Amino acid sequence: MMKLAKKDILGIQEMTVDEINLILETAESFLEISTREIKKVPTLRGKSIINLFYEASTRTRTSFEIAGKRLSADTINISASTSSVVKGETLIDTARNLEAMNPDIIVLRHSAAGAPHLLASLVRQSIINAGDGAHEHPSQALLDMMTIREKKGRLAGLKVAIIGDILHSRVARSNIYGLSKMGARIVVAGPATMMPRNIEQMGVKACTKLEEAITDADVVMMLRIQLERQKQNIFPSLREYAQHYCLNRKNIKLAKPDAIVMHPGPINRGVEISPDIADDPACSVILDQVNNGVAVRMALLYLLSGGNE
Ligand code: CP
Repeated sequence: MMKLAKKDILGIQEMTVDEINLILETAESFLEISTREIKKVPTLRGKSIINLFYEASTRTRTSFEIAGKRLSADTINISASTSSVVKGETLIDTARNLEAMNPDIIVLRHSAAGAPHLLASLVRQSIINAGDGAHEHPSQALLDMMTIREKKGRLAGLKVAIIGDILHSRVARSNIYGLSKMGARIVVAGPATMMPRNIEQMGVKACTKLEEAITDADVVMMLRIQLERQKQNIFPSLREYAQHYCLNRKNIKLAKPDAIVMHPGPINRGVEISPDIADDPACSVILDQVNNGVAVRMALLYLLSGGNE
């Protein structure tokens, strides 16, 4: 079996196709554990995992914690708002102090792009990037690829439309890197003010109309508007945004009849996606994404701990 020869998981940009396949296959093999009556295996007994979150999170933080616990690791959660960060302690000092307690893995979410890379160069522990600013969210892209593969049986050759705030979305960036490597065709759409300059250099087609992007799509991935990262108002109102970019019962007809609808969460209902589409089990796979998130994070913790050696 191939080994994940990495100390850290920092982004999809630096991952090979073989590494992505190894992580997805390992995650697929872990899915079954979460369906058992006793949802626990002893694989990581004696390992300690610290979830260090400087930004709010429901899905990522909880699923890393559940993933660690299902593998019998000790998991410790630290959120910036209840730590000595509020007393002015720097990220580097915080990391050095956590390192002194000798955990095995630190999972970091931070608003600054590159924060996990800095930590990875400073401490001996494995660092997992749980989202750094508008840069990357590798575990999200991996669970998205796992979900697409589960529903469509493949990634290569699929048309994936990614809609919304592309400029500020680490989810979009990681998915663009990952899905392109895996052979999918990606079209992105959003207001011009939410589209990075030179986005087509990432190998995607860009347009401003949702309808153009989702026509004949196999996968429609809607993004959350990242209000917390926007330095100024870059669209007139949520109402106007929704008029042009909300996925609804009418415009989804342009996608393939068996298209799946994804959203990383949290959803702004009626802004990015209409509630009847978000909750429609015939097309929405949003909660399957969350379920697969636990398995992907179990795979990352397992592989970084040398589990496949
Ligand atoms: N998808 C995602 O990162 O959600 P959270 O912010 O709740 O972790």
